[in-house]
Amino acid sequence: MAGRRHFLTALVILVSLAYRTSAAGSGGFSARLFSRDDSLPPNATYAEEEEALMRTSDARLRYLEARHRHMVSPDSVEAPIFRGTSQYLMNLTLGTPPVTIPVTFDTGSGVTWVQSTPCVKCHEQNYPLYDRSKSSSYKPVDCSSKTCKYDGYRTKCINGSCAYVVAYADNSYSIGVVGTEYFTFAGTDDDPKKGMVEMSFGVGLENDGIFSEDEGGLLGIDRTGPSLINQLWKLVTPQFSHCLIPKRNPGSSLVLFGKRAELQGDPTPLQGINSYYVQLYDITVGIKKLHIPPGTFDLDRGGLVLDTGTPLTYLYRVAFDMVHDELDKQVKLKRVGGWTRRQCFYGNYGHLDDGTTVPVLRFHFEGLEVSVPPTYYFTVDGNFVCSTLMPTDSKPSVYGSFMQQNFVVGYDLEWSNVYISPKDCTKL
Ligand SMILES: *[C@@H]1O[C@H](CO)[C@@H](O)[C@H](O)[C@H]1NC(C)=O
Ligand SMILES: *[C@@H]1O[C@H](CO)[C@@H](O)[C@H](O)[C@H]1NC(C)=O
Ligand SMILES: *[C@@H]1O[C@H](CO)[C@@H](O)[C@H](O)[C@H]1NC(C)=O
Repeated sequence: MAGRRHFLTALVILVSLAYRTSAAGSGGFSARLFSRDDSLPPNATYAEEEEALMRTSDARLRYLEARHRHMVSPDSVEAPIFRGTSQYLMNLTLGTPPVTIPVTFDTGSGVTWVQSTPCVKCHEQNYPLYDRSKSSSYKPVDCSSKTCKYDGYRTKCINGSCAYVVAYADNSYSIGVVGTEYFTFAGTDDDPKKGMVEMSFGVGLENDGIFSEDEGGLLGIDRTGPSLINQLWKLVTPQFSHCLIPKRNPGSSLVLFGKRAELQGDPTPLQGINSYYVQLYDITVGIKKLHIPPGTFDLDRGGLVLDTGTPLTYLYRVAFDMVHDELDKQVKLKRVGGWTRRQCFYGNYGHLDDGTTVPVLRFHFEGLEVSVPPTYYFTVDGNFVCSTLMPTDSKPSVYGSFMQQNFVVGYDLEWSNVYISPKDCTKL
């Protein structure tokens, strides 16, 4: 352990030298992203998994709805943040000497925090806790500073410290103080430059609720004030891309920041504020274009949000019903009713993969078409295959994380565009 510490110390010195000699503004950097689901015991039944998936997705939908109301009328109640099962984690490296802590990667919120000592209350964590007293690069944030007033941290000045609270829809929460720290990102093979950037974050001293031992915090990367990407703006081009590795795959992929971000194919423009809203015009099931009523996904009717934190995809009922009916017609498998609210058929992975039994879904975004194969918009549960599409009557609709598996999704905040293109994320 001590040897490793020294190795890390040496590494961070090298990294910081590299950083100082190569202007951070010129390049980009990366971090590892992986899929982990430890919120359920390994012997959980399909029914238990299904229930957890529904609970997480529904709660997340309510969160995005509250956020949407907040965007439309900022005076409305502050939106809670939700975290739950089936999330993606990113390894976040911070401090001097650095510690690496896996945190939930969330394009649907903006605050970044990590569990830290001395904990008033911390959940069990398989990794060392961040300790600001042992980090030479930690700095407290002054109550009067602009950082303490970012929309997103609910802050209060306590004894001269900028204290924050984030509360989640499932009654979990994190309380602590806002500070700044050096975050260390890795270079990529073709760009060995490494990045070390100073950013504000929450030092979580009291954290309680449903957190797994494999995660030590949250990384918020939406478009609100304290978002990681907003903070990077002054250092690198405000672009990032993620490639969500298929769930349960033990491997990892890269989140790329700055010029390293993969912006491939045609872009679709970002709309609205805070969350990543895009315009969806229509959907094709197999070869049947549905002709969803024009305006269904317009922003003023609620819009459609891209989100890594919602596993399922929620479509307004009118559009959902059209997809649902068409799947009933086209899927060459027997329907199963009753065991879940999702649309399920008797079948297995082979049926999803054979190219004929279940149709491809094509999403017609403004300026961009995305074809999603059955293996990514269906799940296999025992003897059933189930669609990951759900109806919603609330606003907004949500393009969830199952739908984004093995796609590289690139966000260009400078030009307000999103790119979605197929990619084998296990090779990134
Ligand atoms: C799963 O394992 C735990 C102990 O590891 C046990 O308490 C529980 O009853 C098991 N559940 C099922 C459904 O077998
Ligand atoms: C993430 O960091 C932890 C702790 O350093 C390490 O054990 C794990 O291998 C890392 N995962 C990836 C995918 O790099
Ligand atoms: C403020 O500081 C005083 C003296 O250090 C301490 O007794 C008190 O508990 C602190 N208050 C809070 C809310 O931390």
